[in-house]
This record gives sequence, structure tokens and C-alpha cells, in this order.
Amino acid sequence: MSQPSTARPLRVVAVSGSLHTPSRTTALVKEILAAFGRELPIEAHLIEVTEIGPEFAGALRRDQLPESVEAVLDRIETADLLIVASPVYRASFTGLFKHLFDFVGQYALVDKPVLLAATGGSDRHALIIEHQFRPLFGFFQALTLPIGVYANDSDFTNHQVSSLELHERIDLAVARALPLIRLSVAETDSIARYLGGR
Ligand SMILES: Cc1cc2nc3c(=O)[nH]c(=O)nc-3n(C[C@H](O)[C@H](O)[C@H](O)COP(=O)(O)O)c2cc1C
Repeated sequence: MSQPSTARPLRVVAVSGSLHTPSRTTALVKEILAAFGRELPIEAHLIEVTEIGPEFAGALRRDQLPESVEAVLDRIETADLLIVASPVYRASFTGLFKHLFDFVGQYALVDKPVLLAATGGSDRHALIIEHQFRPLFGFFQALTLPIGVYANDSDFTNHQVSSLELHERIDLAVARALPLIRLSVAETDSIARYLGGR
């Protein structure tokens, strides 16, 4: 597989909206990160809502957040690639997943590639990817990648991905994402070079 147009590692930031540990959603996100890591030089950061949720759950505005959460938001806003995932709760993402993204700057994700992923108890809510995640990241004018990854509880054994079909779906989602990520990073780097040379 060819490398991206720049030699620098890509800053890949993954957000798991799960409220539990261990978590199927976090396991899924780790598999997606690993799949990208097999194709590209990456610097991976995993953000788990189950860990940081108590630090922002009671904040109503960004200026009320502790520095630790501000640093998380900065990571999200400066990532080259975002992987966002949540368990389905009541037919949507978890409330705290949405609350975290409510603090993200309205224009901070413009053109940023975002891979969408979710886990649910069954396949009945698989369209959460298209009906909940894609509109949210469409609002941010992000570049939502064409294939999202949905998994149900039967794709996991002991909170680890155990289904071949799910592994294949992850590989396909990553393969379809790569050309778009390369274009996006080349564009970002060329803008940075232009601004640096002025
Ligand atoms: C409060 C709550 C609400 C849930 N609502 C749904 C739902 O609407 N649809 C669904 O398919 N699964 C639902 N589930 C099941 C979880 O989405 C599923 O078990 C998921 O894989 C859990 O992910 P986690 O291990 O990362 O926490 C719900 C689970 C909980 C605890």
C-alpha cells in the first residue's frame, strides 16, 4: 500500500462515547486504529468518555471546563483524522458523547476526515451511522468518510472483536478512506506551507 503524501505521522484521534469499561465500542475503535496503523504512519490518541465524562458532564459552557478537557478538545480540533464511535443508547449516541462534541468549535472540523462507528445490542439501530452521526458531523462540515462501521454485541467475545465479517468491514472502511485522507492531508500541509512562507 502506498504511503500518504507526507512523511509525518498522521495525528489520528479516536473518541469512544462508551460509559463502560470494558467496552465493546472502545474495542472497536482500537481495531479501527490498528487497521489505520497497518496502512499509514500514525500517532494515535484514544479519548474515552468513560474516563473524562465526570470532568465535563456538569459544565454548561466551554469556559467552565478544566484544562484537561480543554486539552482533549484541542486534540480533537487539531487531528488529521477523527474516528468517532458510540454505543447506541435509546436509538442515538450517548448523551455525554454529544455533550463533548457540543463543546467543539463550530468550524473546527471543517474538511476534517471523520470515520463514523457505533455498537448496538442488535442490528435494528445500524442506521444510527447515517441518521445520527452523519448529520452531526455534516453540521461541522467535516468530511465524513464513505463507509461507517456498525457492530452488534454478537460481533464481540469478552469485549474483543471476534467476528470475521466485522474485521472485513473495518478493513473495507479503512481502504475506502485512505485516498480521501491522503488528499485531505496534502491539502492541509500545502495550506500550512503557504501560510508559513508568507
Ligand atoms: C442505557 C442503554 C441504552 C441502550 N439502548 C440501545 C438501543 O437503543 N439500541 C441498541 O441497539 N442497543 C442499545 N443498548 C445496547 C448497547 O448499545 C450495546 O450493548 C453496546 O454494544 C454497548 O457498548 P459498550 O460495551 O461500549 O458500552 C443500550 C444499552 C444501554 C446501557
